[in-house]
Amino acid sequence: MKFITYGFGRRVCPGLHLANHSLYISLALLLWSFRIVQRPDAPINTHAFSDVVTPHAAPFKIDVIPRVKVAKLRAMMTDGCTD
Ligand code: HEM
Repeated sequence: MKFITYGFGRRVCPGLHLANHSLYISLALLLWSFRIVQRPDAPINTHAFSDVVTPHAAPFKIDVIPRVKVAKLRAMMTDGCTD
């Protein structure tokens, strides 16, 4: 195993492939749907993490900009892609 996220050995998580593929699909859809960008007026401090056992990034602001018009996205999700 490259990472211990899913445990290892006989007790390794049996859902790891489902989980990894689900994450891949979800992230790919997010990146396809939105441009996720740093705000010019609020630069992100990439060194700011919480000082705990499981550290996470300090809060920061971003812009999430739809790549496709929301109405068209809704239509694609309900009627399927017709282009
Ligand atoms: C990001 C998602 C997931 C993470 C990080 C994760 C992580 C883990 C970890 C750390 C264990 C314990 C391993 C050990 O005891 O040494 C575990 C066990 C388990 N996981 Fe996952 N898991 C995830 C998703 C899933 C999914 C999607 C399923 C089922 C569809 C699943 C089913 C199980 C089962 C049944 C066990 C118990 C295995 C056993 O004790 O023999 N997990 N998981």
